[in-house]
Amino acid sequence: MSFRVAIVGATGLVGRTMLDVLAERQFPIAELRLFASERSAGTIIEWKNLQLRVEPLTMDVARSGFDIALFSAGSAVSREYAPLFANYGTTVVDNSSAWRTDPNVPLVVPEVNAHRALEHHGIIANPNCSTIQLAVALAPIERLFNIVRVVVATYQSVSGAGARGLAQLDAELAGTEPTVRISSHPIAHNTVFHPIADDGWSEEERKMMRELRRIMDRPDMAVIATCVRLPIYRSHAEAVWVECQHQIELPALIELYRTAAGIEYVPENYPTPLTASGTNAVWIGRLRPDPSNPHALALWVVADNVRKGAATNAVQILEVLVQNGRLSPAHSFAELRS
Ligand code: A2P
Repeated sequence: MSFRVAIVGATGLVGRTMLDVLAERQFPIAELRLFASERSAGTIIEWKNLQLRVEPLTMDVARSGFDIALFSAGSAVSREYAPLFANYGTTVVDNSSAWRTDPNVPLVVPEVNAHRALEHHGIIANPNCSTIQLAVALAPIERLFNIVRVVVATYQSVSGAGARGLAQLDAELAGTEPTVRISSHPIAHNTVFHPIADDGWSEEERKMMRELRRIMDRPDMAVIATCVRLPIYRSHAEAVWVECQHQIELPALIELYRTAAGIEYVPENYPTPLTASGTNAVWIGRLRPDPSNPHALALWVVADNVRKGAATNAVQILEVLVQNGRLSPAHSFAELRS
């Protein structure tokens, strides 16, 4: 069996990486069409020796009868177009935050809650990049010791903010004035926060706290996040402290980390953003028991935010659906909304 696939946002960093990951993992594709804004119409993207022409996204495209659409064109596009595609029978995996809190839309990290993907009604949400790698690292801890509280600080690359983030850092490193910005502070030689709201939290921090609880199916879990961007291009790192109900037995956790799918455990030395960049794994190191609390531990988690944090996770969701024969939803999105 092979599928008719649309990529919406195909010219973006995540969209292009989705194309790479589909090819690398030999996802079975019968037809592939690429969509972006009017600005990129006619751009040629090479994929597996094919020259694919980027088409503008219009309402009519939704009626084309795609089996699958991978969206990474921002929340506004997803809010408008994902339900249209779903209503015409296409299964959408959406990388934006538009649908992540909708109870009819599963929020899926395949290593953690693959079964939720099978409950979809036409749209499945890919979580926030920082949250995906955190959930993968925490799932074995939850399984063994039952998590009570998570305190996490992120060290995020600018690619998480798309082309604008890269452009600001590039301009600053070249000594020129950026024409677009993701922060009013300089990013080069600096650390900056995501925009902070009146309540004292950034939306990135709120997303991590809210999405982690949903993915892990633990609405009661205490989560505190501090999210920071560094002047690096690719991969996010996280310093994580976890408190559990049960006493920590490190050897049991190390055994799980050594064998868990999607995890690279680095006992000696430690993983860095350069270690993780270009890979699909979540890299874990610096595993340390908390000397002040036998129920707590600290760890360091790194992953490529464009791959595992976005494109790879989306393609893995498709693989779960194909393996379980669930590309078609049980009930359509249109039925649920009527
Ligand atoms: P375009 O290249 O034509 O602007 P990134 O997050 O890396 O900036 O990528 C965003 C992606 O979303 C790009 O492919 C971009 O296309 C696409 N995009 C932005 N706005 C729209 C829109 N209104 N309709 C379709 N695609 C869009």
